[in-house]
Amino acid sequence: MRDATVRHLHQGLTSCSVDGGFKHPNRGRYTCSDCLMIAGTALLALTVQASAEGDPAKGEKVFKKCAACHAVGPEAKNKVGPELNGIVGRAWGAVDGYKYSANLLELADGKVWDEETLDVYLTKPKDLIPKGKMAFAGLKKEDDRANVIAYLNQYNEDGSSK
Ligand code: HEC
Repeated sequence: MRDATVRHLHQGLTSCSVDGGFKHPNRGRYTCSDCLMIAGTALLALTVQASAEGDPAKGEKVFKKCAACHAVGPEAKNKVGPELNGIVGRAWGAVDGYKYSANLLELADGKVWDEETLDVYLTKPKDLIPKGKMAFAGLKKEDDRANVIAYLNQYNEDGSSK
């Protein structure tokens, strides 16, 4: 009896196919909307966990180290380095009109700046792109990297906020 109920609950979570709900031995009757609520709560918990990794407000301070060479936001232009709007999820070397190093373009090969790759690059840029032209030693602290990535992740490719 107990096993059957647990199976029902699992089915309900993914497809909500249990007509008229079903009975849990300890908790009473579940309906389809209960299933959706449980699934929704689980999703919400995951989302909160993911965004808890970096703090955009702290990242804004860290970005001061980048701002001599990079801009982000609505009016962002290329400076010494390319503008960084939408960088989380953007292809390597994707800004039109910015002259990237040959090394970055060679290594690009369809790669995307996801959070993991950004973390590696920002730790020590030359480790990832040895002959790249980003003259920046890197951010030693993991928190600084997570925070600046969270800050950058607030911007879409057109510079608007997400
Ligand atoms: C002294 C100037 C300078 C500083 C400081 C600097 N960068 Fe850069 N950055 C560059 C240059 C130049 C490039 C282009 C690299 C190339 O073509 O090899 C670059 C490239 C990048 C790229 C790749 C962009 C693309 O379109 O592929 C990212 C991401 C990046 N920088 C992030 C950062 C972040 C975040 C910081 C601060 C923590 C930072 N940079 C600090 C000069 C700088």
